[in-house]
Amino acid sequence: MLNSLNELASRLRAAHAVTVLTGAGVSAASGIPTFRGAGGLWKHFSATDLATAEAFTRDPLTVWEWYAWRREQVAACSPNPAHDVLARWTRTHDRWRVVTQNVDDLHLRAGTLNLVRLHGSLFDLRCWNGCETPSRAWRDERVPFPDMPPRCPRCGGLARPGVVWFGEALDPADVASAEALTACDVFIAAGTSAMVYPAAGFLHQARAHGAFTAELNTESTQATRLVDVAVRGPIEQTLLELDTLL
Ligand code: APR
Repeated sequence: MLNSLNELASRLRAAHAVTVLTGAGVSAASGIPTFRGAGGLWKHFSATDLATAEAFTRDPLTVWEWYAWRREQVAACSPNPAHDVLARWTRTHDRWRVVTQNVDDLHLRAGTLNLVRLHGSLFDLRCWNGCETPSRAWRDERVPFPDMPPRCPRCGGLARPGVVWFGEALDPADVASAEALTACDVFIAAGTSAMVYPAAGFLHQARAHGAFTAELNTESTQATRLVDVAVRGPIEQTLLELDTLL
C-alpha cells in the first residue's frame, strides 16, 4: 500500500487540477451507514419502497419518516478527518475539487469550497406539485420537522426530499460541472462502490482525458481494474497519511 500511496502523493504534488469523486464510504467514519456495505441502508430497507417517485406517490408519509430519520442521524454526526482533509485541499488549491454523491452535506460542514453535489441534499426540500418556489429547492435544517409530512411554503402542497431518487435525472448543471472536472491531472474515486451512473462514468471520462487515476477504498470495487493505483484502507486514515506526504 505504501508504494501506491507514495505514487499517488508524487502525482498530487505535481498536479494542478485534482478531482475527488466521493461516496458513502467517506462518511462511514462519521457514523453514517453506507448503502451497499455491511450494515448498509439497502440491506435493511428497500430502495424501491423508499427512494423513488413511485414510492412517494404511494406512501409519502413512510418515505418522509425514513428521510426524517436519516436527517436526525446526520444532524447528530460530524465531519471526520476525510472530510477535513478534502475541505482543506479545496481551500488551499484553486483547482482541487470535490464531486460528491453524498446527500449528508458533511463536506459542506467541513468547509469544502466549490462542492458539486450530484444527488442533492437531505436538508433541501422541493415542492412535490412542482410549483416554482423562488428556487427549485429550499433549505430546511429543522430536526425534527414540527409537522409531518412537511409542506411547500408557497402552495401548501406536499414537499419532497431534495435528493435524486432512483429513476430520476440529475440536475444537468451538476452533471456538466462534474464532467468538466474530469479534465484533470489526478482523479480519485474515494469511498464509492462505483456502481451508480452517471457518477461511476466520470472515472472513464477522466481516463480518456489522460488523468492519473486512483481509488481509495477498504475493498475492491467495479473501478479497481480501471485505476492506476488502488489504496486499501479506511479513507479517514489513508487521506491523512496521503496529506502528510504532500
Ligand atoms: N473508507 C473507505 N471506503 C469505505 C469505507 C471507509 N471507511 N467504508 C466503506 N467504504 C467503501 C465500501 O467498500 C464501498 O465500496 O465505500 C463504498 C460505499 O459504497 P455504497 O454503499 O455503494 O455507496 P456509494 O458508492 O456512495 O453509492 C452511490 O447509490 O444508493 C445510491 O444515491 C445513492 O449516492 C448513492 C449511490
